[in-house]
Amino acid sequence: MSKVHVMDHPLIQHKLTLIRDKNTGSKEFRELVEEVALLMGYEVTRDIQLKEVEIDTPMGKAKTKVISGKKVGLVPILRAGLGMVDGMLKLIPAAKVGHIGLYRDPETLEPVEYYCKLPSDVEERDFIIIDPMLATGGSASAAITFLKQRGAKSIKFVCLIAAPEGVSRLQEDHPDVDIFVAALDEKLNEDGYIVPGLGDAGDRLFGTK
Ligand code: PRP
Ligand code: URA
Repeated sequence: MSKVHVMDHPLIQHKLTLIRDKNTGSKEFRELVEEVALLMGYEVTRDIQLKEVEIDTPMGKAKTKVISGKKVGLVPILRAGLGMVDGMLKLIPAAKVGHIGLYRDPETLEPVEYYCKLPSDVEERDFIIIDPMLATGGSASAAITFLKQRGAKSIKFVCLIAAPEGVSRLQEDHPDVDIFVAALDEKLNEDGYIVPGLGDAGDRLFGTK
């Protein structure tokens, strides 16, 4: 069973409140989503591998550690996942970025794929899939399946807000994928939107309706 990590650091909670507020405009919304992604990235990368090196400090030799160079793949689910890319890349600038384009059919709520471009060395990378919203879980589950079909062995899923339905779906479909969330919300409404949530993440990021 995959683990669910709820990252409720006070800074994340504060910024998430501003993100949820319907009076927060697109510019501020984008900045806040990027900031929360960076703060979450700190915890998501906690198990990144290190190796020992020897360096010279002004005081002499020291055996110390650096990141071992294991390759990371960052995969935003289009469109709204794009809002989290820059925050994560500030922490892991060497990551390669793949893109998976999915939209949720408004009638069936089923994900429809329209784009997929991944780094060529999929099997060698540790993947982090990012999307602000985990609602029914259909989009995240499909994105993870695409990555696995192309050979990915190590995948984490990171979102800002999750509904219980989405978490259960991912745990059932992909028990090997750990889930990182900033908040677990109450429920989905009849249109498949997270309540209280933040509304439509893509529209709020890009100013569309
Ligand atoms: C949103 C969101 C997720 C998906 C979550 O994308 O960014 O990808 O819905 O819903 P689910 O868990 O029920 O699949 P949307 O389909 O609105 O596309 P967009 O990002 O292009 O606006
Ligand atoms: N997609 C969103 O953007 N928001 C939700 O609440 C659910 C799906």
